[in-house]
Amino acid sequence: MTDNLSPIDKAKYVAAKRAVEYVEDGMRVGLGTGSTAAWMVKCLGEMVRDGGLKITGVATSTRTAQLAQEVGVPIVTLDEARWLDLTIDGTDEYDGDLNLIKGGGGALLQEKIVATASDQMVVIADQSKKVEKLGAFPLPIEVIPFGWQTTRALVEESLINMDVLGRKTSLRMADDEPFRTDEGNLILDLHLRQIGQPRQLSFVLNQIPGVVENGLFLDICDVVVIGNADGSVEVRDINNGTVNHERVDLNETDNLFVDIAD
Ligand code: 5RP
Repeated sequence: MTDNLSPIDKAKYVAAKRAVEYVEDGMRVGLGTGSTAAWMVKCLGEMVRDGGLKITGVATSTRTAQLAQEVGVPIVTLDEARWLDLTIDGTDEYDGDLNLIKGGGGALLQEKIVATASDQMVVIADQSKKVEKLGAFPLPIEVIPFGWQTTRALVEESLINMDVLGRKTSLRMADDEPFRTDEGNLILDLHLRQIGQPRQLSFVLNQIPGVVENGLFLDICDVVVIGNADGSVEVRDINNGTVNHERVDLNETDNLFVDIAD
């Protein structure tokens, strides 16, 4: 059933398929955003529809909420759920300590709120997301529209004293318009190339009044599941200190191979 998928989609699917093994009946589950997370939502949909799994999902974006609805995963708001057993989400980068850069899909604020409100965060990724040091992927920060150019200037000024290799910033665009988050905010992408001290940077950025949140997820992720196109997965658990190599069966007749609009 996976024969028609590109190698990268196979890798994402394999990671998602392994990650949903963490989901148990009755759990409240945070549902991440992005193309890898979309596979996870589809896997959960199949488990709900065909396997009778009973879960409640909390989506991290309107896109994910819509997909969850389409595939049959029941959704409630975070305020209704209050606290979650588990969140499964994608990432743009992860390092050896399972610290992350997220927000490539523009959903970092809800993703961080949801992941922080979860007992466990499992991240799903392909090999391309692994880095020695965070920062090659531009760090997204969510800023409110009011006075955003002043906020941008303050961010650029603060970067002068930071341990980073690049200091360019760009306003994220969607076609010819500034990209808007689900909260109606803007995203500034910080082209830092390498972040020497992520904790210091995260703290300093979040002190700037117009900055709502940044895409550094530090000490939030518990497990990273890295998928490969051949069906192998690596499961890195930071709390247990384990790295396991496993296989996911790609020949199962999963009923979820339809186009995923991300
Ligand atoms: C969205 C995110 C995504 O998880 C991240 O961008 C990874 O996306 P993909 O799985 O499509 O590579 O943080 O805000």
